[in-house]
Amino acid sequence: MFEAQHLHLFRILDAIDQEVGGAADPAIIDEFLFDLSSIAVLHFANEESHFPDLAYPDAEAHVADHRKFLATLTDLTKALGRGESAVDHAAIKGLRAALNWHLQVFDAPYSRLLVQKFGPGT
Ligand SMILES: [Fe+2]
Ligand SMILES: [Fe+2]
Repeated sequence: MFEAQHLHLFRILDAIDQEVGGAADPAIIDEFLFDLSSIAVLHFANEESHFPDLAYPDAEAHVADHRKFLATLTDLTKALGRGESAVDHAAIKGLRAALNWHLQVFDAPYSRLLVQKFGPGT
């Protein structure tokens, strides 16, 4: 049920990755980071809204990893605001890796639990 939202997050990361580099415009990167944070906040809230219904055993660690991802975005946004070139290809690669890891370790098992509880198509 979360595939489209995950794809959206990766598409924004791709867009930022295309933007960073030599002639990168910090204002545009800042906008993309804002989009990424906004979509991530909505998506994480969406996932977390079902945790209480499921007696989900990994809820605490799952939420902590959501918060960690958002904190990284906040740090990058602040660094960009200070004029530091913290948003580079390596940073995007790190965010992509963190998201992929999260999907495998938390979201995939959680989605299976949701399907068990509510059926396919949830
Ligand atoms: Fe997710
Ligand atoms: Fe998640």
